[in-house]
Amino acid sequence: MSPLHLSAAAVILLTCILSTASAFNITRILNRYPEYGVFNDLLSRTGLASDINRHSTVTVLAVKNGQVGDLTSRPIDLAESFLRTHVILDYYDIMKLHRLKYDHAKVTTMYQQTGIADKNQGFLNVTSGKDGVIFGSAVRHSPHDARLEEAVMSRPYNISVLCVSCIIVTPGLDGYSMPPGEAPPPDSDSPAPAPAPRRRRRRKRAPAPAEEEVPAPDSDSSDYAPSDSPADAPGPDADAADKSSAGKSAAVSLAGFFLLLCSLLAAH
Ligand SMILES: *[C@@H]1O[C@H](CO)[C@@H](O)[C@H](O)[C@H]1NC(C)=O
Ligand SMILES: *[C@@H]1O[C@H](CO)[C@@H](O)[C@H](O)[C@H]1NC(C)=O
Ligand SMILES: *[C@@H]1O[C@H](CO)[C@@H](O)[C@H](O)[C@H]1NC(C)=O
Repeated sequence: MSPLHLSAAAVILLTCILSTASAFNITRILNRYPEYGVFNDLLSRTGLASDINRHSTVTVLAVKNGQVGDLTSRPIDLAESFLRTHVILDYYDIMKLHRLKYDHAKVTTMYQQTGIADKNQGFLNVTSGKDGVIFGSAVRHSPHDARLEEAVMSRPYNISVLCVSCIIVTPGLDGYSMPPGEAPPPDSDSPAPAPAPRRRRRRKRAPAPAEEEVPAPDSDSSDYAPSDSPADAPGPDADAADKSSAGKSAAVSLAGFFLLLCSLLAAH
């Protein structure tokens, strides 16, 4: 009896392994856009890519090859810290950013999940004004200069990849370069409490669905049409497969586990 059972178990086990796949694969997505090759390579080398793939709702702020600066020559954990601030734990596409109209928002990044984020290091301040949409660290007095250039791809409401003009610099990530304004003890000049308690490692994801509103009226979305990438009509191929397999994987894993257990017992 065992050969049959064992091979069935093996097949199922293999299926499990192959389908523990997540909703998307950031490496594969960025592979389609060679102009983000350096950024993509950094995501892989730092191991952040697989971390990103484990999330179901993210926005990645990518920079083009020429704009990565010296990040490639920095120690790998430092590069990882910087890159973590480029991954927002929420879905933001052009349309949603457009709705910020002359306002700003504070968004949480993957750096916050490290548990070592100090002050506002784990957050970005996104502003929308007449100069367009600009991202910067939410740490006070930090540079606010990463301009939104274009939408690379999006798959509502799971992943959006946006291009920003430069690496976002969050003061203090390398342990000593907090700017003078942020350095003094927290209470010195801000009455606001904001003691930024250390978060638990796995932050509960903010509920996304509030965002289900009907896409904004076309009157103003037309401004954005040119920059909205033609490139991503929902990726045809493999990604669609990923999506459905992700849903099934839990059930399949369970079934596979039981089958394996059965055949092991039967073998005795
Ligand atoms: C997409 O995101 C929603 C929540 O925003 C989540 O419920 C869903 O499982 C995600 N889809 C995939 C394929 O992960
Ligand atoms: C994601 O895609 C890359 C490139 O195709 C591949 O090397 C990697 O194994 C994939 N990761 C997962 C988790 O499927
Ligand atoms: C975010 O930027 C806006 C506009 O520049 C500013 O008014 C606001 O104080 C900033 N918020 C934080 C938390 O830095």
